Amino acid sequence: MGKSTGDAFVVNGPCTLHGTVVISGAKNSALKLIGAALMGAGQTTLVNIPKITDINHMVNLVCHIGATGQITPGPITDTVVLDVAEAIGWDAPAELVKPIRASISIMGALVARTGRARIAMPGGDKIGKRGIEIHLQGLQAMGAQVSEGPDYVEIVAPEGRLHGAEFTLEYASVGATENLIMAACLARGTTILRNVAREPEIIDLCNLLNMMGAQITGAGEETLTITGVKRMHAAPSPHAVIGDRIEAGTYLVAGAITGGDVTVEGIDPDYLYRPLQDMREAGVELRVTSNAIRVLPSERLKGHETRTLPYPGFATDLQSQHIVLMSQCHGTSRLTENVFETRLGVLSEFAKMGLKGDIIGSNQAVIEGGHPLHGAQVKANDIRAGAALVLMGLVAQGRTEVLDPYHIDRGYANFLGNLARLGADVAREEVEIHTPPATAV
Ligand code: EPU
Repeated sequence: MGKSTGDAFVVNGPCTLHGTVVISGAKNSALKLIGAALMGAGQTTLVNIPKITDINHMVNLVCHIGATGQITPGPITDTVVLDVAEAIGWDAPAELVKPIRASISIMGALVARTGRARIAMPGGDKIGKRGIEIHLQGLQAMGAQVSEGPDYVEIVAPEGRLHGAEFTLEYASVGATENLIMAACLARGTTILRNVAREPEIIDLCNLLNMMGAQITGAGEETLTITGVKRMHAAPSPHAVIGDRIEAGTYLVAGAITGGDVTVEGIDPDYLYRPLQDMREAGVELRVTSNAIRVLPSERLKGHETRTLPYPGFATDLQSQHIVLMSQCHGTSRLTENVFETRLGVLSEFAKMGLKGDIIGSNQAVIEGGHPLHGAQVKANDIRAGAALVLMGLVAQGRTEVLDPYHIDRGYANFLGNLARLGADVAREEVEIHTPPATAV
């Protein structure tokens, strides 16, 4: 029988990183802004778009719905120009929706613009259940009729337009907040949304929508007030996507674990307030300016505790990377995952590289740090776990092969190029796939 081979990110460790990375626009903002362009006919230009594969999927989806789109490459980030038609469609089919989770965020825009939407259930990372009942409850509060098929959801606004409502989200879901904001922008009357997500990406979305004629107040706070308008228009000037706090946090961990000196530029440090506090608690030395963060070689990293929570809490999207930091901290560290129920699954891959860790209850990782790590063949199961496995390879002795690196390409622009410039020995290679016995965590 022939041996099977696959694409992998290969890391030869250990190494020490030095240098600067310019951070791209935030994936989880850019994707939603591309969808938000559908809210007004005409040409909307978005700059500082990250060079990641999810962007191509989102542009294809929006073009199918009713736009022409162009991605113009720049040296570090791209520009996306979308020319949105007066009349747009309302059906988002499975082949365009499935590849990325963010596709669900066009649901609100479609109902707002056309009075109806049919969306195949989205894909994205396999990190938990990822229900959409909060999105649907909010739309129902605004008068929508919702029907669910085996693999799609259909929403109809009676007489073609939703009405304003007061709605409290039972959980501050990022995706539900985005959909309900867009739905409310063109609804009849005023909508008050309580317990909304407060992520910086939500503020970025509200800023673009307000440029397009929406009337939203309270972005970044727990309650949003949206006064519905009859019509919105394209953004009158280019909108720059905010910096990616998760990309920045990932390179900071890379610097800290390798005892290096790494600066990330193009990021508002306030977006990383909580993760930076946790890094300081571990003993990581940081210097912060208005748009850059530098990590310096630290004396001895120490065990600490943190837990993921909606913003401004510690971001779940930095959880896997932070566990790699904990592996380098002397003593015991604990990390509780409160957002996605299966995201600690990455521990079984880390264990193949020698990480000493355990999962207590359903959602607490207990890490015994300071033990030697070794290279191994491991598998990326989501964007952040994939990036974290590459980071682990930077501190492990020998060769690490991270299979399925397409996950990492979905969220990190030029990840290997940036790490190589910082001094890592990394490459993309076709490797032979082993199937080792499962390792207990
Ligand atoms: N949830 C429900 N019902 C809902 C909505 C959410 O049960 O109706 C649950 C989810 O199952 C999950 C939790 O609430 O357990 C958080 O979900 P949320 O809706 O807040 O997240 P999302 O919109 O699906 C976005 C990002 C994620 C990021 C989370 C949390 C995008 C495309 N994705 O997902 O990013 O982890 O917010 O900050 O914006 C990533 O970039 O790697 C990534 C997974």
